[in-house]
Parts: sequence; C-alpha cells; structure tokens
Amino acid sequence: MNTLIRNGTVVTASATTKADVSIEDGRIKEVRAGIPADGAKVIDAAGLYVMPGGIDVHTHLDMPFGGTTSADDFETGTRAAAFGGTTSIVDFAIQGRGTRMREALDTWWKKAEGKASIDYGLHMIVTDLGGAGLEDMDEMVREGVASFKLFMAYPNVLMADDGTIFEALAQTAKNGALVCMHAENGSVIDVIVARAVAEGKTAPIYHALTRPPRAEAEAVHRAIALAEIAGAPVYIVHLSSEDALKEVREARDRGVPAFAETCPQYLVLSIDELARPGFEGAKYVFTPPLRPKEHQPKLWEGLKDDHLQVVSTDHCPFCFKDQKILGKDDFTKIPNGGPCIENRLQLLYHYGVNAGKISLNRFVELTSTAPARIFGMYPRKGEIAAGSDADVVLWDPEARYTISAATHHMRVDYSMFEGFEIKGNARTVLSRGEAIVDNGKWLGKAGRGEYLKRATHGGAWK
Ligand code: URP
Ligand code: ZN
Ligand code: ZN
Repeated sequence: MNTLIRNGTVVTASATTKADVSIEDGRIKEVRAGIPADGAKVIDAAGLYVMPGGIDVHTHLDMPFGGTTSADDFETGTRAAAFGGTTSIVDFAIQGRGTRMREALDTWWKKAEGKASIDYGLHMIVTDLGGAGLEDMDEMVREGVASFKLFMAYPNVLMADDGTIFEALAQTAKNGALVCMHAENGSVIDVIVARAVAEGKTAPIYHALTRPPRAEAEAVHRAIALAEIAGAPVYIVHLSSEDALKEVREARDRGVPAFAETCPQYLVLSIDELARPGFEGAKYVFTPPLRPKEHQPKLWEGLKDDHLQVVSTDHCPFCFKDQKILGKDDFTKIPNGGPCIENRLQLLYHYGVNAGKISLNRFVELTSTAPARIFGMYPRKGEIAAGSDADVVLWDPEARYTISAATHHMRVDYSMFEGFEIKGNARTVLSRGEAIVDNGKWLGKAGRGEYLKRATHGGAWK
C-alpha cells in the first residue's frame, strides 16, 4: 500500500518546506507540494513536522555489564525507541578478550533477530587485537560493521592500552572505518576510586567525584593525538564536560577530523542528582558521570556551533530495585548506565528547540542526519528525499507530555527524567513506510527490524 503524507511541514537538516511526501515500497518517492493521492493511504499531517526518523548511534541492549545485563533487550528497547521517534539504532557487540570478532557479531545478530522492530546496525567493541585482530576489523567492515569502540576506561575489563588504540586507529586509516572512543583515563580513575573506598566513601556521589572532568579531557586529548599520528578520524562518545569539549574544539579548529557526541543526560541533569538521599543517586550512575551544571551551557553551545555533531543516548538501563542495588554498600559495584532511548528527541526538542538553544533544522541534523552521515547510513537514512527509506516521524510541536516510569515503554523501573514536562512529541512514526506508532498506539512487530549493513564514512569529515 502506498502512502501520502499531506499538509505537513517537511523539516530536514537544511530546509523547512511546506510539502507532501509520497511513499512507495517503503521508500520516499516524491517530496513536493500538491502530490495527488492516486489511491494511496493519506495521512493528514496538518500542524505537524515531517522529519527523518531519529537515529540513535549509541545504545546497549541486552548487554552483559557490571555483573548483570542491561534491562532492555532488542524487543523492548527498539519498541521504546520507536515511541520516542527513533527509527534506527546502532548498538554495540563486544569482542571477548582472546576471541574473534565474528563470534561477537554472530552473538549480537542472534540477540536482535526476531526482536528488533526498527532497523539496527552494530559497532564492534574491541578489547584485544592479538592474533587476527586487525584482519577481523577488515572482516567486520565487509559485514557492515563500519565502526569500532575502544575504551580508555575500565582497566582489566574493557580498557585497551595506547598501543592497541593506535593500532586500531591505523587500521581504520586503511579500511575507512571509524574509531569511537570512550575517553576517560581509567588507570588514574582507578587509583582515585581505590583511595575513596579505603576512606569509606562508598555512596553513589563518589562515582562522580572520583571521575574528574580533567580525566576525561586528558583522554580526549590523547585519543585525538593518537588519531592524528595514525592519520585517522576519531569520534568521541558520550562527551560530558566543558574540559573535554575544549579539546575537541581545539582539534577541529586545527582541521583535525575529530567528532563527538553528547547525550541528553549531560545537557539537562547535573552531579546534584547523585547526591539524592538514600541510594537514589544510583539511578544516575553512568560513565562519564554527570557534571556540575555549569558545564551544560557549554555543551549546548557546542551543539549549536558544531563542535559537537551528534546527540545519542548511551541507553544502558539497569533496574533500580534488582540491579542498581548490587552497589548498595559500594558505588563501584553499581552497574554503570541509564535509560534514555525513548526520551532523546523529546528532551532535545523541549530544552533545545523550544528554549531557543538550537534551531529546528539543527535538531534534525543532530538526531538523524549527522549520525547517518558519520556512520555510513546516509542518504538511505537521515533524509527526507526521493529514494531514502521512508523512516518518517510526524512530530507534534504542541503535544504536552510528562515523562514517567509509569508510562514509558523502556523495561526499567525508573526514569532519570521523572516528572519532566515537555512540549513536542512524536505523533506517528513510520519505519520503511509502515506506521509502527500512531498516537501512543503500538502498531509495529518484533522482528520486522532489518540489520543495517553500514558503509565506511567515505571521507565524510573532509
Ligand atoms: O555508564 C555507561 N556509559 N554504560 C555503558 C557503557 C559505556 O561506557 O558506554
Ligand atoms: Zn562508553
Ligand atoms: Zn555506551
């Protein structure tokens, strides 16, 4: 069945236009005023924005971490994403130390198969380049895994040493993939953490106090320097602080292909959340940690001025009652991560567009077009144009919504944004032309999501 979206305002990263959008066989056929219905199913988008579906390039569904597994799997996580207007995600497969990347890829494909209701790609977390690691990276690129995450934090768990990081970067300089860096100086943080624990400082707030912004900035600086030596671009994930942003900005000003994302939690929450009474602060334990609120306006400026290119979520939910509780007497045992996959567009729209901090077009760029370009999905994804997948969000700028764990669709027993009243929400969400969410109703199906074989960036930074 063909579809025609009529009377809406089409919003892309570069333009805002009154136009109709026709859809055939899951793809956008035409974008112009006055397209005749010709028997198509008509959706009236009067008063709505017609935008490319959101793309969240940083999620952790069904991920073993911190002695437990993230609470959303590919079924619940992708459904929640869709309710929030996100139609594609890129999740992370994890290479176990001493194992081949192919094994991890197969494992994550199985996790997604029959469950994902929106399209999904995968990054590969590299823990070990011994043996055939570099060949494995090339093989992953051929499989559409065009990006690799390495950790400068979590020694003895996920952390890679500088030599490994450099080798991975040098390989991407050859194969065109992109290294995503978790940039925090893990060795130094571990010393600070051990001292705090020895002094009996075990409450959740010490998670943040033992991971200073300078430890993030130092790692960002090092990551960029290593990328420069290797002649490769680098993408800093979940950037949280003014200090780290300054490093990215300085590199970009010098013409270095350094990119970075931040996440809604760093834009609207602060370290004060971790000081909540009792154990409540555990709900906000993730890395890098929340910062003093003075960092927030700097991050917003970074988004506006393109020092930051993407807003992702780092969605990594753990239930408060059964999972966060693992660190009741010791913050180092609190599983690191927070839920956000459903709220990314709502929060960025309300606190960004409504507050006048970013334009509507920049909102689309940060949440959809730029991630599509940087991660090898453009123009199939991230665009409203003939030939692109009909991943479309009909956005109601007037809709009022109160975020709450009582009504959200993520499989987690709390919200980091409980009680936040926002204006602007997804009304109807189409994935490859199929309405999967309409007016708060779920119309999608588990398993309909397709694996996204992503291209290398093709010099997108040049
Ligand atoms: O605390 C976090 N961010 N958990 C997810 C893993 C990661 O480092 O992205
Ligand atoms: Zn990370
Ligand atoms: Zn993450």
